[in-house]
Amino acid sequence: MNIVITGSTQGIGLGLAREFLGRGHDVMISSRRAEAVAATVSSLQKDFPGRSVNGQACDVAEYVQVQKLWEQALSSLGSVDIWVNNAGRDGAKMPFFAIPPEDMIQTINTNLVGIMMCNRVVIPGMYQQKHGKIFNMEGFGSNGMVRPTASVYGTTKCAVRYFTKAVSQELNGTPVKLGYLSPGMVLTDMLVPPPEARGKNWAQSRKFLNILADTVETVTPFLVEGMLRSEGNGDAIRWLTRRKIAWRFLASRFRKRDILSPLGL
Ligand SMILES: NC(=O)c1ccc[n+]([C@@H]2O[C@H](COP(=O)([O-])OP(=O)(O)OC[C@H]3O[C@@H](n4cnc5c(N)ncnc54)[C@H](OP(=O)(O)O)[C@@H]3O)[C@@H](O)[C@H]2O)c1
Repeated sequence: MNIVITGSTQGIGLGLAREFLGRGHDVMISSRRAEAVAATVSSLQKDFPGRSVNGQACDVAEYVQVQKLWEQALSSLGSVDIWVNNAGRDGAKMPFFAIPPEDMIQTINTNLVGIMMCNRVVIPGMYQQKHGKIFNMEGFGSNGMVRPTASVYGTTKCAVRYFTKAVSQELNGTPVKLGYLSPGMVLTDMLVPPPEARGKNWAQSRKFLNILADTVETVTPFLVEGMLRSEGNGDAIRWLTRRKIAWRFLASRFRKRDILSPLGL
């Protein structure tokens, strides 16, 4: 199959790309920075000889750039079977009234406008090729949960669920399928702050992460398997379910889980 993943030069997006390639699929890499795209493409080509790995820089909030990414994907891959709207940012973690307006706009543009632009471009394209699946990446807030200092990020991810629900209903009976992806808590640059930014609550956060978080290598095989198997419209592929959360907390009373130390965190 031919896969396009936005925001795939690091973190979950890169993990998804590696997992698809390892299973024999071809991939188009993307993020805003052309140098990062080129470096990622060349390292994946080295690790997966025989597979087709292409790349194109694209800011998902820019309609013209998304259109170019779609066209480049068609010309490199021939068709697009799965398009993953993974690109995202968390922005400043602080009370809403203190968030710099520019930071707020960037988060909304990437997480919400970007998802909309990509769906706007890809749905007609897949309709024309008569097949294709799109997955929109959820995050904290998608289920309506609220946390202080995550107002903007949570609002965008809550809206992503609404948007995906609304558009997937519009796609019923068409050859284009739209679904949800939810990775849980994954140890990437987005989730783990750099040492200088960890602050006084880091010990408490570390405890929490050791119970609920997972590595990219643990979560991406599950997400990829789910996307490949998904046949329905509105399918949801969610790693950290309520049941899994309850089980992790229960188990933590009896068995200490430590996934951060081996990563030097
Ligand atoms: N990590 C978690 O625990 C977690 C939990 C739930 C949901 N998620 C979601 O999963 C997705 C990936 O997260 P991650 O943890 O892997 O983040 P990450 O490590 O920060 O990677 C984000 C990727 O998105 C790209 N990106 C950022 N803004 C972009 C834009 N406007 N246009 C195109 N690409 C852009 C970045 O590259 P450039 O900066 O070079 O463009 C990078 O490749 C996000 O949607 C996030 O909200 C993550």
